[in-house]
Order: sequence, then C-alpha cells, then structure tokens
Amino acid sequence: MCGIVGYVGAQSAQDVVVAGLKRLEYRGYDSAGVAVLADGGLAAARKAGKLLNLEKELKDRPLPGGNTGIGHTRWATHGGPTDANAHPHLDNAGRVAVVHNGIIENFAGLREELAGRGHDLTSETDTEVVAHLLAEAYSSSGDPAEAMRQVCRQLEGAFTLVAVHADEPDVVVGARRNSPLVVGVGEGEMFLASDVAAFIAHTRDAIELGQDQVVELRREGVTVTGFDGRPADVREYHVDWDASAAEKGGYASFMLKEIADQPKAVADTLLGRIDGSGALHLDEVRIPPSVLREVDKVVVVACGTAFHAGMIAKYAIEHWTRLPCETELASEFRYRDPILDQRTLVVAISQSGETMDTLMAVRHAREQGAKVLAICNTNESTIPRESDAVLYTHAGPEVAVASTKAFLTQLVACYLVALYLGQVRGTKWGDEIRTVVRQLSEMSGAVERVLGTMEPVRELARSLASHDTVLFVGRHVGYPVAMEGALKLKELAYMHAEGFAAGELKHGPIALIDEGLPVVVIAPSPRGRSVLHDKIVSNIQEIRARGARTVVIAEEGDEEVVPYADHLIRIPATPTLLQPLVATVPLQVFACELATARGNEVDQPRNLAKSVTVE
Ligand code: F6R
Repeated sequence: MCGIVGYVGAQSAQDVVVAGLKRLEYRGYDSAGVAVLADGGLAAARKAGKLLNLEKELKDRPLPGGNTGIGHTRWATHGGPTDANAHPHLDNAGRVAVVHNGIIENFAGLREELAGRGHDLTSETDTEVVAHLLAEAYSSSGDPAEAMRQVCRQLEGAFTLVAVHADEPDVVVGARRNSPLVVGVGEGEMFLASDVAAFIAHTRDAIELGQDQVVELRREGVTVTGFDGRPADVREYHVDWDASAAEKGGYASFMLKEIADQPKAVADTLLGRIDGSGALHLDEVRIPPSVLREVDKVVVVACGTAFHAGMIAKYAIEHWTRLPCETELASEFRYRDPILDQRTLVVAISQSGETMDTLMAVRHAREQGAKVLAICNTNESTIPRESDAVLYTHAGPEVAVASTKAFLTQLVACYLVALYLGQVRGTKWGDEIRTVVRQLSEMSGAVERVLGTMEPVRELARSLASHDTVLFVGRHVGYPVAMEGALKLKELAYMHAEGFAAGELKHGPIALIDEGLPVVVIAPSPRGRSVLHDKIVSNIQEIRARGARTVVIAEEGDEEVVPYADHLIRIPATPTLLQPLVATVPLQVFACELATARGNEVDQPRNLAKSVTVE
C-alpha cells in the first residue's frame, strides 16, 4: 500500500509534499520520508514511525529549500519499519531518489546483478534496486522518463514509482502498474499522488494514469507514455468532493465522525435510485437487464469488513432473486479454481477499490467470462475501472482505518443489487420487493435513532476495558454482524474477539465460556421468522448458564430476551434482512469506546493500513 506524493512548481516542495503525506497517512504509517532537489543536489530525510517523527526531524534538521520533491508514507512489506528501510531510496552517488508503492517480485535477482556491477545496496527493501537501476539508465539515456521506462520493463510485480534526479531540477517522473497514481494539474505547478486527497488543497483538476504508463511532470505540463515509449491517451477529470469532508469536523477522531456520518451516507447511497412507486432505477449498472435475466449464479468476493457485507448480501440475493449465491474471501477465490462462466455474475465489494486480493479476484472472474459488478466507494479506482459495471456507494471519503460508514453503505448497495436483480428477473417476491425498497428508504432515520441512544453502550464498553476476550454470536444475518463486531474489536482494541453463528456454539466454542466472559448476542426480530428468535433465546440461556455476562442487542418490543440479558441494547424494529444496518452501529460504538478506554488510537490501529494494495 503506502502513500506517494510528488511536486514540481514554485512553492516549497518540502511543505507541499509533507502536507500531502498527512492526507495519505491512512495508506500506511510505519515510516515516512521526503527528498528535495536543491542547489544542484538532492537532500533527503527519512524516519521510522509516524509522520510526526519525520516532521520533528525536518524541524531539527531542515532540508535546503527547493521547488521539486517527492515523499512517501510507508506500510512495510519488504524489510521492517526502520529509518534505513524508509523511502525515498537513493543510488550510491545520491543523485536519484525514488519512492514506491507495491512489491517488486524479481528484486532479489536484480539486486544480485546490481551487486555484481559494483552497486552497494544498504536497505532490506525491494525498492532500493530501482534507485540504482534508474541511475544506470539515466547515465546512458540522459532522459529521466526514458530511464523510468527502461527500468519498468525490467520489473515484475506491482509498482507505482515516483522519482527525481539531481541533474533534472524541474522534473518529477512517475510510473504506474496496478497501484493507483493520479496527476494534479495546477497553474505552473504539477502534483503526483496515490490519491487526490494529497493535492486537493491546491487543485481539483486531475489526470488518472492507466496501467503501464510513465508520466513526466514539469511546471508547465505533463507527458504520458506507455512503458514502450508510445504516447498514451489520458483521461482528465474534475474532483468534485469537498476537502472539508476529509477533516474531523469537531469529533475526537475520524472514526467517531464517520460513525456519526452514517445516516447521511445511507441516505446518499439511495439517492436517485428509488422512485415514488418503490421501483429501483440503477441506470448506472451498465449490464443490460437481458444479461441479468440470463444470470444463473452470483458469487460475491471481498475482504474483511466488505466480506461481511458480502455475507449479508448472500442472504438477500438468495431470498429476493432465488439465484444461488456464494460469498467468498477474495484472497481465496482464484486459488481454488472456481467454476465460472458467462452466466455467472460476480459482485466485488471494496471501499477503496484498490484492494489487491479483490482486484485479482475480479481479473480472474473476467478471464473466465463472468460479468463483474463492483460495489465501490472510491470513484475512478482500479476495481470499478476493471469491472463491467459499478454501483458506487456514496459514503464520502472514509479516513479512519476501521471501516464504518463504508460498511453500512456497502450493505445498502448489496440490498439494491439483490432487489434490482429480483425486480429485473420478476421473481415471485415482486410485492415484497416494493415494500422492502420503501422500508430501505426509512433506514437512514433508524440509524439516526440508534446513534441517539449510545451512551449506555459507551458506558458498558468502558466497564469492559480490562477484559481479555469478548465473544459475539448471531443467527441468520446476525451471524455476519457478529463477525463484524468481533473484527472491529480486534483491530481497534487489540483484544481476543470472535464472532460465531450461535448454532455453532455447542459444536465447540461454548468451551470458551467462563465466569464473567462478555458475550454479545445479536437477537433476530421476534416477528416473522420467530423460529430463529426462539432458537437465539435458547442460545442466550445456554450461554448464561455457563456464567457468561450477556449483552443482548434486541429489537424494541422484544420482551422475551429481557430475563436473560445482563445488558440490553435496543435497536429499532426492521425487516429481518435489513437489521444489520441498525445492529452493527452499537458494535462500532462499543469497539471505538473500548479501544479509547484502553488508550489506543482508533483512527490508525497498529499494523494496519486503509488500502491493502498487496496480496
Ligand atoms: C476493517 C477494514 C478492512 C477492509 C478490507 C477491505 O475495518 O476496513 O477489513 O474492509 O481491507 O478493504 P476494501 O473495502 O477497501 O476492499
């Protein structure tokens, strides 16, 4: 993953680059560095740890002022998060500096060859070879873009590279294979970054680089070619989201803000997609209804939180469309030789649109002839661009590493896909579909109501801060909600947390239950599918009989669970399949508060990154 910034213009390159890195810290934050071209030479600073450490270093030992520079915020792959492994990496003469996002798979062989030619490589990274190769290529071509193209042709794997050369004080070059790279076009200044967030304070005009392209930035313009040197077509666009959306808006953390943003995010994701009669209009889904009618199987692929949304999608899709649906971890998908053909619809869910496991699953599915529909939150990211169609979630930028509002909007999008497939294919649930579509429009208000009742949840979380383990159980769509609750707690509070299907408890996990162990139970609605409710009531009793402290999330009006709940969290009554939209919210608040009580920083949990662009 990692975040990359490049700048050429009239401002202080160090200031522009460091400010850009701050906006990209969500992509990785275990070390950071910057390099600036100044006084005919190249000056660099690199520091392990958060960007703050680099800023302190630059304050103590300022770099000479220059107007061309590059920077990097790292999520370590090859080599631990040390000063020596931090980017930028330089060649032995200190004339070339390069930053990199991705993995260079053939770096070991290249390193050996470079050592054989007398180069001295000092870090444990795969990136350092690029600085040395660029120095060699530039000394023969005298052209920084040509040098980059020559080097890229030698590299295998996924790489986005940005480099400067001390002999070319007004040039930044970049190259893109797989991970994202965007050009920001200013007046007499140009930017290059992994994400527009890095330069949105300066310009909203952007150019998206395609696969296998090299870009040369000068103050007055950019030149884009393929790795083969041929001029490349580029797509210019205007960024229309507001920079202030990426600020905390008065909350103590981005995560709290993003939890609070959820009613709006849910409403925005439905906006313009439902008409007054309860019919769905997903014109942007460019897969024609005739093709959707031919689909005979749906496969959902995703990772982490998005995978939990996908698990819930399976219940919705099978119920409303009567099509068989599998949900699969994207990282496992292509390695098990799945059976796919032209009649398979693959739904790929990703907040970032850059998750490498999901991207690889998309590519594999399309190679087998399947149609791919992406559900994604990030415009113009790689997964939607490589899919047949995309349904965007409108959560706005999600900055906190732990996903909250993106998850709720992924659920909304999954319901829309399930209901739309049902509508297009004309299943027997036509009336139910119209009713549910209307109920879906009321869910933003239901989420708002849940948010208004969270103080007891926060209190409970604080009281459990010294526990080592929390278990989560649920049935039907409550099962993925339990898994999501456990994932949030693991990643934020660094606690042992597990989510189980409640029915599985007696097949093993019940042995974990001990006196006082907190067990969170997501109770299904007592209406409609009451068999499920009866079963969960039995499960709560079994759990309590073994001494656990039960925390029951139950619908308003569900009195049956009351005698067995040590703590009761109320959520509004909703149709069973839509319940995850309200049941997940207390679990997000619970994890955020508990992690804060343990002194953890919730926006940037240890070892994680927002966008996982390596497999
Ligand atoms: C957990 C979390 C991750 C992501 C996963 C997929 O809070 O955020 O589990 O859900 O890495 O990321 P995207 O959705 O960007 O593909």
